[in-house]
Amino acid sequence: MNKLHIFSPATVANVSCGFDAMAFALENLGDEMIFEKNESGKVTISVIEGADLPKDPEKNVAGVVAQAMLDDSKADFGVDIQIIKTYKPGSGMGSSAASSAGAAFAINKFLKEPYSTLELVKFAQMGELAACGAPIADNVSAVLYGGFVLIRSYEPLDVISIPTPAQLYVTLIHPQIKLGTKEAREVLPKSIDLQTAVSQWSNVGGLISGLYAEDFNLIGRSMQDAVAEPVRKHFIPHFDALKAAALAAGALGAGISGSGPSVFALSEGDVTAEKVKQAFDGVYKDKGIDYKLYVSKVGKEGVKSTGIL
Ligand code: HSE
Repeated sequence: MNKLHIFSPATVANVSCGFDAMAFALENLGDEMIFEKNESGKVTISVIEGADLPKDPEKNVAGVVAQAMLDDSKADFGVDIQIIKTYKPGSGMGSSAASSAGAAFAINKFLKEPYSTLELVKFAQMGELAACGAPIADNVSAVLYGGFVLIRSYEPLDVISIPTPAQLYVTLIHPQIKLGTKEAREVLPKSIDLQTAVSQWSNVGGLISGLYAEDFNLIGRSMQDAVAEPVRKHFIPHFDALKAAALAAGALGAGISGSGPSVFALSEGDVTAEKVKQAFDGVYKDKGIDYKLYVSKVGKEGVKSTGIL
């Protein structure tokens, strides 16, 4: 195999209550990436479409991850990478994670898959560290495992795949404003009180149970965030109105996608997810802020090969 095309999905991290611990992948939104093996012994990035990102492999998360894997495996080949982005970085939909985890997946294929999925998460975390200063595992795990994931532990890393009910759809609105993950992490509390902690872990337990049992009502009841949402929502214009509109349109729950500024809502079925899209549209259409709307099934598969040459 010398050339590999992949689809690397967008992801929603935190899922309200699971700050840094939960995420899921989207089925129909993500990056296309093309990897070509060569004899240069180096990592190069020849094409980036759809985003203004550095082509210097030391400054691009895909390049950082690819180089780390080639070094670790003592590979005797080089790789050229092309990245076609379909949504903007800084969205809160795991753009850097799609590139980092996509690179980990593809390089592992070229190496004939010596690394486990968990080891690929660790390589992809290096990309997240380069992108936002913290080796966050939630988005990259959702890309690599697909569906819902739980990071049960960071040290040692323990990632659990959680079943995804077939009828679970996500609606997203991405206000086209700049909000970096670094900035959105700086406002987080350094510690939380016991009552807040109890409500948060109770909701994570409820969400996980709801996903296993396909209990949509329980999924919705559990999508409450007492930690990040209260301090981050001020970055997002009309956040409370978006959330209220989504719930009124029938969404199970809504919250900030990752570190924002995108806002997501989960729904049972595509009909409700489309109604939520209209509700989001209704909130933003006269506000003078550019925005993009997306509806997707939760993607069970995660990153995948779309062509091997
Ligand atoms: N869990 C991370 C955060 C996701 O909320 O900061 C960042 O993409």
